[in-house]
Amino acid sequence: MKTRHFITVADLTPEGTLALFDEAEALKQRLSRGVHERCLADKSLVMIFEKASSRTRLSFEIGMTQLGGHAVYVGMLDERLGERESVPDAARVVSGYADGVMLRTYAHGTVMEFAKPSSVPVINGRSDYNHPCQALTDLFTIREKLGNLKKIKLAYVGAGNNVARSLAWACYRRGMRFAIASPKGYELGDRLIKKVRNLTPESGGTISKLRDPHKAVRGADVVYTDVWASMGQEDEAAERRKIFRDYQVNARLLDAAGKGALVMHCLPAHRGDEITGDVIDGKQSIVFDQAENRMHLQKGILKMLLG
Ligand code: CP
Ligand code: NVA
Repeated sequence: MKTRHFITVADLTPEGTLALFDEAEALKQRLSRGVHERCLADKSLVMIFEKASSRTRLSFEIGMTQLGGHAVYVGMLDERLGERESVPDAARVVSGYADGVMLRTYAHGTVMEFAKPSSVPVINGRSDYNHPCQALTDLFTIREKLGNLKKIKLAYVGAGNNVARSLAWACYRRGMRFAIASPKGYELGDRLIKKVRNLTPESGGTISKLRDPHKAVRGADVVYTDVWASMGQEDEAAERRKIFRDYQVNARLLDAAGKGALVMHCLPAHRGDEITGDVIDGKQSIVFDQAENRMHLQKGILKMLLG
């Protein structure tokens, strides 16, 4: 049987995604009553990080513990996967020990290369192409706050990066309206949009690309942003700070969206750059619920793939 991986949001069917949301919600409710479901007793998850992380590491590690299993952290922050031994060799060795692997890499190709020979499920914990655990958590959080996702408008302000790609993909598949405002040269790629539309042509979702952030947020139910320079783009940070200056999520931009709009950010945030402190700490922000939900949603993924 083919090993099931979770590498992009398309690895789950739309029905599978709803089942995952229901599972995550049930796990969250049970945890709030102090009930730990130990469905992964004696199971091990290896977590390999080429890059820094707080949320992804902690939410997976504590999530595994709560499900009765165990997580092993492998930090490769000074080295890339494939330097000491080939990626496929590492994958075959690790899958001989563990019941699942979570990878945070620089290149998306590394996740693909690892998954191919792996005999256990591989979960993408962020690559330069995608951040699927984040995007599904975000939709789970919106559903928790607003109910049915269909026709909800999410306005993303910033670069067409890994988080934007996964969100556009996930929103489109759920029949949501995804609008992204980016400066010239930093837009969401048309190839991705075409792929997403071809994969789920009947979803009822829309993806629109705009230049003006004020226009993008008009009528939005959710305003979302992420850092201007992602991990691995640190040397472009100063230049991007100038280019993205008009793409800050601040009180004025939020006024254009309206009082009912929720504010989201995957974190870590650079307060004063892509988002202001008053907005992140303000009444419309659900940023910290979003961060907490990483654990509940990923417990659902772990249960589904390793259980
Ligand atoms: N949002 C997110 O993935 O955070 P970390 O980089 O801290 O894991
Ligand atoms: N786009 C950011 C997300 C971090 C969670 C990055 O890749 O660095």
